[in-house]
Amino acid sequence: MSSDFLLPRIGTKENPVRLAVFISGGGSGLQSLIQYQKIPRVHITSLVISENNNAGGLKIAEENEILALHVPLPQIKNKSEIRLEHEKKIQQILERENSELIVLSGYMRIISPWLISKWKGRIVNIHPSLLPNFPGAHAHRDVLAAGSNFSGCTVHLVDEGVDTGPILGQSRVIVRANDTIKSLQDRVKIEEHKLYPRILDNLCSGSISL
Ligand code: GAR
Repeated sequence: MSSDFLLPRIGTKENPVRLAVFISGGGSGLQSLIQYQKIPRVHITSLVISENNNAGGLKIAEENEILALHVPLPQIKNKSEIRLEHEKKIQQILERENSELIVLSGYMRIISPWLISKWKGRIVNIHPSLLPNFPGAHAHRDVLAAGSNFSGCTVHLVDEGVDTGPILGQSRVIVRANDTIKSLQDRVKIEEHKLYPRILDNLCSGSISL
């Protein structure tokens, strides 16, 4: 694997790696991670960021006394400027809060090469399919349309592509004949909620090398 990925420092239970979790929606993955961190781990969620003021995960973070910030998209016309200005704001917050690892958990925006260049090796994502199959925003729909017998979830480091970075772990889920997007999504999420904390343990304890 390419060595331009700079992995996070090794955390300890006394000095855990400080996670910034990015969300866009309900936040069930965030909730399960916070639950996992109720006892000391080598990582801790210290910041939650969303571009969506109605994201359920912001409330979950607040209820758990974790700094939860709505970072709205700037009201400007040019699309690439919107992304850059938004990410500049986020980068300022990450620096101010001493964040050490970005954890995408249902974050539905593409990260620009600019932010990746600052964090490469320290941004992880969870995707609801067995990558490299079915990347993109509609994985469950695409799995069902293709008639696949199995699906699952993947945790990977984020690179400049969409759902293309080095894979750190996967879990498999059987697709049932009567599955809908919702029923498949629900079963995949159960696996996601087990996989992500385990991979974060590995990443933040130094047991993953590239
Ligand atoms: C999760 O299934 C996650 O894998 C997916 O969004 C869901 C978020 O659920 N992420 C993507 O599709 C990223 N492209 P949650 O808000 O309940 O955690």
